[in-house]
Amino acid sequence: MPLAVSPLHHDLVLDLNQLHERIRAVPSLAGLTRIAVAIYDAKSDQLRTFMDSSGGKVVLRHYVVRLRDVPSLAEVARHGLPRVVNDTAGYDLTVLHSRRLFEEGMRSSYTVPLKRDGALKGFLFFNAGQPDFFTPEALDLLWPYAQTAAFIAMMELDKVRLIKAALNTVLHISRHRDEETGAHLERMSRYTRLIAESIADSHGLSDAHIEYLHAFSPLHDIGKVAVPDSILLKPGPLDADEYAMMKQHVAKGEEIIKAMMRGFSLSDVPQAHVLQNVVSYHHEAWDGSGYPYGMKGLEIPLEGRITAVADVFDALTSHRPYKKAWTNDEAFSYLREMRGRKFYPPCVDALILNRRRIEEIQSKFCEAAVE
Ligand SMILES: [Fe+2]
Ligand SMILES: [Fe+2]
Repeated sequence: MPLAVSPLHHDLVLDLNQLHERIRAVPSLAGLTRIAVAIYDAKSDQLRTFMDSSGGKVVLRHYVVRLRDVPSLAEVARHGLPRVVNDTAGYDLTVLHSRRLFEEGMRSSYTVPLKRDGALKGFLFFNAGQPDFFTPEALDLLWPYAQTAAFIAMMELDKVRLIKAALNTVLHISRHRDEETGAHLERMSRYTRLIAESIADSHGLSDAHIEYLHAFSPLHDIGKVAVPDSILLKPGPLDADEYAMMKQHVAKGEEIIKAMMRGFSLSDVPQAHVLQNVVSYHHEAWDGSGYPYGMKGLEIPLEGRITAVADVFDALTSHRPYKKAWTNDEAFSYLREMRGRKFYPPCVDALILNRRRIEEIQSKFCEAAVE
């Protein structure tokens, strides 16, 4: 049976919105217009929008910036103390995010660095429409709410970390070694992010959803740990029986993650749904010719449609023992041919229109650099 389809709106944003409502119920804090969380990825030095509660209007969405390019935030991260800006008129408005916030009428801000064990995990931002909103009295009142917002954000990230760590342990113990490792997974997860970002606005994908997709897409083949090495590592083509056993990796993957989610009491969290959909549907095809469910078109959960294209594109452009790597042009013309047949058209377009970013990913994560 297919697993449950994930809702695109999840309880994380509701939690932040509810907290925002609570804060606005405090008379002297009623003017608080925005709470947002950005998360920090130390590996890439990237700061990415993650959660936003601005009363229905998200001021900054799918926004990525390098921390080193925002010296004022880098400074907050370095000393680890919250920062108050009581008149954003002094902001450098050539910086895109500052300009957006200013244009949306934000005139003061309160920024709290999120740290764990001394390492930066992100920032919590509060904004208000009037200058001098964040007085010492207002900050006293706001402080417990800020702690709660930080806790909500860290909890969400911890769930992702927990699930990934547990499944990576499974991979490690099984000494799962086939071509689907190292550089393939790095590139594939970045193609997944690239596609998700490109179609986010037209498909209602939140920043948190994109973050989970990026985090979990490398686990799409977790079920291969249960496929015998004689099949997994076979240098030649598989016969019909062997291919049937190989296809079983989807069902095996579903079993593994179902058991794990139950064990961790995480079955109903949005992160689990994203992972389930990646594992269950990454071999489904737009025209119904995929496996194991043979779903068709929009019936296939979006996570499956996205990862299918990302996974195949990287397989095509990678060297394998039984085939040479295709050029990007060759892979693009295959995707074009299969657009609307095997693959969901917007996902194909997202890759084809972003050639420069694909090339950046390829040069950063070439086989030699990772394995
Ligand atoms: Fe697979
Ligand atoms: Fe793969």
